[in-house]
Amino acid sequence: MSIKHYLQFKDLNAEEYGYLFQRAAFIKQKFKAFEKHQPFADPDRTLALIFEKASTRTRVSFEAGMYQLGGSVVHLTTGDSQLGRSEPIEDSAKVISRMVDLVMIRTYEQSKLEKFAAHSRVPVINGLTNEFHPCQILTDLFTLSEYRPAASGKPLDAIKGKVVAWVGDGNNMANTWLQAAEMLGFTVHVSTPSGYEVDPVLAGISNRDCYKVFKDPKEACAGADLVTTDVWTSMGYEAENEVRRTAFAQWCVDEAMMASAKKDALFMHCLPAHRGEEVTAEVIDGPQSVVWDEAENRMHAQKALMEYLLLGRLG
Ligand code: CP
Ligand code: NVA
Repeated sequence: MSIKHYLQFKDLNAEEYGYLFQRAAFIKQKFKAFEKHQPFADPDRTLALIFEKASTRTRVSFEAGMYQLGGSVVHLTTGDSQLGRSEPIEDSAKVISRMVDLVMIRTYEQSKLEKFAAHSRVPVINGLTNEFHPCQILTDLFTLSEYRPAASGKPLDAIKGKVVAWVGDGNNMANTWLQAAEMLGFTVHVSTPSGYEVDPVLAGISNRDCYKVFKDPKEACAGADLVTTDVWTSMGYEAENEVRRTAFAQWCVDEAMMASAKKDALFMHCLPAHRGEEVTAEVIDGPQSVVWDEAENRMHAQKALMEYLLLGRLG
């Protein structure tokens, strides 16, 4: 049987996402009711978490989530493993994947993650690369479906046809939003400063109708169901910090942008956030912001993902 990896959003199909959103809701409900849900307890399963960049949410959500599922975790960083001492990635993949059941990696180039996956005996999950952040968009769409459920009760119906405004950098988050829009049938209104545009080829989409580009971020927000943004400088690009501060000055999500979106529009941010840069305090701490539920949902959505990659469909 071939191994199922989650390296990009498009590694799963719409039907699988429909299952995952429903499963995440079930797993979340168990957690809230303090009921045990431990499919990884017997036989016990181990997740290796490999971080080459910093993290708070990704680490806590995967680590806590794995323990709650009855499994255990091994945590590695570049600094405390041979990964930082030039051991070939292929060799690392062969060794690590003989001892654990699942691997999550946060690294720089997507190609490095893909190389690891190609030599792994077990499923590999993208915990963020320079190019993509699929676990975050999986979570954001689950959160959208919770806040704005469809009359049918089906999460995919809640997402289909929606307008998501992306304000800011054409980065790993933006690329993943485009893949999700193409897959699940919604539209992304993208506004970035010039020089920081999304690239559909890099984003890996073939249908250019799933997104529209706007010069003015307020116009991108017009009529949106969800307004979302991210840091001006992603990890790995710190040397560009000062240049980006100037370039992105007009791409701060403020109350005027939120006012141009739908009246009941939500605001999301993957976090960490910088108040006064990509978003004002009034917006991120305001009534339309769902960032804390969004952060918590990382754990519930990823528990559903890990369960699916290892055990297939349950329930
Ligand atoms: N959103 C997110 O991935 O957060 P961390 O960088 O803290 O993991
Ligand atoms: N685009 C950001 C996301 C952080 C979760 C980064 O890559 O640093």
